[in-house]
Order: sequence, then structure tokens, then C-alpha cells
Amino acid sequence: MDSAALQTPALLLDTVALEHNLVTMAHRLPGMTLRPHMKATKCTSLARYQTEFGHHGFTCATIKECEGMVAAGLGGDLLLANEVLRTERIGKLLTAADAARVTVAIDSQATLDAAILGGVRDVVIDVNIGLPRCGCDPSEAARLADAARRGGLTVRGVMGYEGHLMMQLDAAKQQEQVEQSMALLIAAHCEVGGELVSAGGTGTHRVNRWATEIQAGSYAVMDSDYARRDDGFHQALFVEATVLAVNQKGWAVADAGLKAFGMDHGLPSLPGAQVLFCSDEHVTFRPGADWKLQPGDRIRLTPAHCDPTIAYHEAMWLSPAVALDAEAALELGASSPIDITDRWAVDLRGW
Ligand SMILES: Cc1ncc(COP(=O)(O)O)c(C=O)c1O
Repeated sequence: MDSAALQTPALLLDTVALEHNLVTMAHRLPGMTLRPHMKATKCTSLARYQTEFGHHGFTCATIKECEGMVAAGLGGDLLLANEVLRTERIGKLLTAADAARVTVAIDSQATLDAAILGGVRDVVIDVNIGLPRCGCDPSEAARLADAARRGGLTVRGVMGYEGHLMMQLDAAKQQEQVEQSMALLIAAHCEVGGELVSAGGTGTHRVNRWATEIQAGSYAVMDSDYARRDDGFHQALFVEATVLAVNQKGWAVADAGLKAFGMDHGLPSLPGAQVLFCSDEHVTFRPGADWKLQPGDRIRLTPAHCDPTIAYHEAMWLSPAVALDAEAALELGASSPIDITDRWAVDLRGW
């Protein structure tokens, strides 16, 4: 299939960049030292590919992600790294699929009660290590773990998420701050016990040496925000759009807007052009000075935040030529048609 036949906006995945990212990460964090996070990529085909690089345990953010991973035969060791107050779907999942193991994060008596009521068997104690989100106070972790064990649950260890440090670009400061955060988690782990100290993400995977496993997700596909870290990953994810209008006053418009890009980390980018703003269905940009764009031309934009961008789309279209052509498009603006080699459903979307 030719990319010109795709309905735009269309999510494109460069398979060369994807493979590079998976090889790079598997080399740094082999086997179970990485628990790839499905919240970023939401795609069981991609998760299956990650198993070829040695990763067999996965992190999930939603019950839907757990259900989809189990249905795809990838649910042997899932960590639901989020609090849930209605866990009966997890209980059902465990009863229906013998080979499934879902470990659920708890951080309060309410989440512990919900886990027991819904039929959860395994938990980790989620400890707040600095990000103002979920996680119990470190001083409460041991009490919660004891209560969980009394309630018949297996406590596999602790998790924490130093999300506030992912984009700390000062290496020395990041090192120091991650160490401080992880000191809280390690202290809690000493009291809680269990084999897991689960933490980290794409932005801290190189400095967090205290976790037994890192929960990174974005590294596989990348976005322009994470690119600022320059950690050796390549941009694999793009959104193809069709140029609708080229205005004489110096701007052009294409058909990918707020409903095609997660924008909380900023505007999408288009190398050689200046993206001005997005509205619901449009992106308005100032083309490169020598570009001769016409309505009907295709352009390929880079999202600033991969997770919400992927969640907007039903599928990713694969090709080994997306990133190469993006470089060629720097001169002309318009991108060339490329061969699409596969379609992967974004089958873990929703809740
Ligand atoms: C609990 C948790 N772990 C890990 C991550 C790291 O994900 P990424 O590697 O995509 O930054 C996130 C991202 O939000 C998260 O919420």
C-alpha cells in the first residue's frame, strides 16, 4: 500500500527508528530490568515486538490495557501502576485466564479494600516520591503492606514514579534529585519487602540505578519533548497530514489539529517550517522560504507528546522510510509517497 492512499490525519511509525530504539533500550536495560509501559504506545502488536527484545513483563495504566494484553497472550506479568477503586474487572480477568498475573498498585486503605473485594491477588505499595499524584506517604507503606498481607494478598514490593524529574535536563541535578526520590522508595522497600522496586521512565532510565525495573514507555516511539534529552533514541512517530490551503500572506494549512495531536507538551513540529497554531481539525504553519507547497501535498509532523497523540488514533501505519523521507522533505516541504508495510491497531485505547 502507498501512503498517498491513507486517510489523513494518519499516524505513521518508522520501523527503522523503532527497532533502533528497542535495541538501544534492551542493551541498556535487558530482560526484566525494563517493564515497558503500555500507556505510551497502547498497541499489543508493538508489545509483542518488544518481547522479541527480551522484555516479558509490562506496565499498564488502565484496566483496558490489562484486558487487552491478557487477550493478546501478553499478560503473564502485568503491573497496573495506577490506583483503581473498582477492581472487579481485574478479578474476572484473573479467573478467566489462568496464565494471567496482574499486580495492582495500592496506596490507601480504600484501594486495599477495593483490591480485596474485586479479587486482586498481587499488589505493590505505591509510594509518593515527590510527584504530587498518587502514592502513600513513605511512613505509611509498611502498615499498608502488613494490612494487605493480613487480607490474604501477596505484596510483591513497592513502586514510585519520579515523574517530576523526567525533563530535568541538568544531568548533575537530575542525578541528585533522582537519588533523593529513590532514597524514599528504598527506605519504604526495606520495611515492605518483596522482590520489586519498580520506578522510572524514559527520562530517568539512565540515572535510576536503585529500581529493580524501569517503567519506560515513550522511548519506543519518542516525541519532540523527549528529544530534548538527547538520550540516543530516534523519532519513530509522525502524523501525516494533507495541505488544504496555501495562503499568499505566508501561511499554509493542513488537516491535522487538536484532535490528532496531544498538545500538553506543546505544538507539533515540522522541520524547516514554523508551526503557528492548531485548531480542532487544522494546523497552521509558515512554510520554509523555498517550499512550493500545493493543496493536496502531504506533510509529516512530529508530535510533542506521544502518549495522548497515539490515544487519538485507531491505528499506526508502518514503513521503514518515514524518517528518511522526513529528512528529504526539509528542502521541498512536501513529503513523498512511501510504501506502507503494515497496520497496527491502537487496540488498548479507552478505559
Ligand atoms: C506510573 C508511570 N510510570 C512510568 C511512566 C514513564 O513513562 P515514559 O517512559 O513514557 O515517560 C509514567 C508516565 O507518565 C507513569 O505514569
